[in-house]
Amino acid sequence: MAETTVNGSERVALITGVTGQDGSYLCELLLKKGYKVHGIVRRTSNVQRLRLEHLRTMPEVYGKSFFLHYGDLSDATTLRRIIHLARPDEIYHLAGQSHVGLSFEIPESTCEEIAMATLRLLEICRDQPHPIHFYHASTSEIFGFVKESPQTEETPFRPSSPYGCAKAFATDMGRVYRAGYNLFVCNGILYNHESPRRGENFVTRKISRQVARIKLGMADKLTLGNVHGRRDWGHAQDYVEAMWLMLQHPTPDDYIVATGKSHSVMDFVEAAFAVVGLPWEKHLEFDRSIERPIEPARLLGDAGKIERVIGWKPKRTFEMLATEMVEADLADLADLRS
Ligand code: NAP
Ligand code: GDD
Repeated sequence: MAETTVNGSERVALITGVTGQDGSYLCELLLKKGYKVHGIVRRTSNVQRLRLEHLRTMPEVYGKSFFLHYGDLSDATTLRRIIHLARPDEIYHLAGQSHVGLSFEIPESTCEEIAMATLRLLEICRDQPHPIHFYHASTSEIFGFVKESPQTEETPFRPSSPYGCAKAFATDMGRVYRAGYNLFVCNGILYNHESPRRGENFVTRKISRQVARIKLGMADKLTLGNVHGRRDWGHAQDYVEAMWLMLQHPTPDDYIVATGKSHSVMDFVEAAFAVVGLPWEKHLEFDRSIERPIEPARLLGDAGKIERVIGWKPKRTFEMLATEMVEADLADLADLRS
């Protein structure tokens, strides 16, 4: 187990994208480990941040070991100021437009937020007087038109979406800053990971939410695009653990984080309907307008390196994930109705 103090003082982490699925789980993990955690949030018209509300309303936590700062990825001056004030030992850079399908509709802002913002943060880290361990949220989407399956850290990047192109640029920049300036940069090449906190416009959560609505008599149909796509799906709580472990290792490197198991979207549909004991055939329908111009080929990760070097392995299975997500949505909808 790594130390959570350096020379007797508390470790400090800064998370971009702290309001997101991964950011919120990582924040909980680091607080539990005794870190001071700073998070960057952008201005929104609704100040309630659902995934963080439980921490923000804890007086013994908020303002004591957990701090939020307004900032936007496009605003280098503010990012620099926050890093200067917080003096983090570790930065987890998770923020950005994370929807692959949407990146075909808004490619320019996707690339600006993902590619240029990562470069901006690396430049700020280069200027800091103290060393910072930097985690970059890379993705299996960099492999896109895959050359080989399963993919390893040596598989060439061949992205198949604007999102994948932007992440490939950011991942390469991380490598360049590590080699060129000796910065401690780790690219976590993460495959799809889900949870009850997953955004509702990603396919697993769309399915779990709608299956729960159908079970409770609040809806009748689940409408999807291409259900033949295959992914390597893991659990977000396992994956944030991998992020932390990477930054504790004595040397920085890139790691694939995956389960090594491939499932289709249809497998998730079947697993979700099985949880509520309903036949999917009666409820599933298709809408071609949801389909994407291009789909990546067989995204399947070989996580052998992170297991060998760092000792990380996923704890939760695909079936556990589907069950947890559907049950959480059933409980949440039941609460809303009562
Ligand atoms: P998510 O739930 O969509 O969270 C994205 C976060 O980025 C949110 O906190 C969002 O803030 C913030 N953000 C977006 N644009 C911003 C901007 N311009 N300025 C400041 N903050 C901004 O994503 P996630 O699933 O937690 O994923 C975390 C990271 O890992 C992302 O970079 C994603 O691309 C990458 N990744 C995810 C997966 C996966 O399967 N989940 C796999 C590989 C890589 P708001 O709450 O205000 O929107
Ligand atoms: N979102 C969505 N909505 N996807 C659908 C739908 C639908 O109604 N119907 C079918 N799909 C299919 C998509 O076409 C894709 O083949 C698959 O479901 C998974 O889509 P998403 O859940 O949106 O995830 P993703 O694989 O495109 O991207 C996620 O994983 C990447 C890692 O591989 C995101 O979390 C990215 O940020 C991440 O980098």
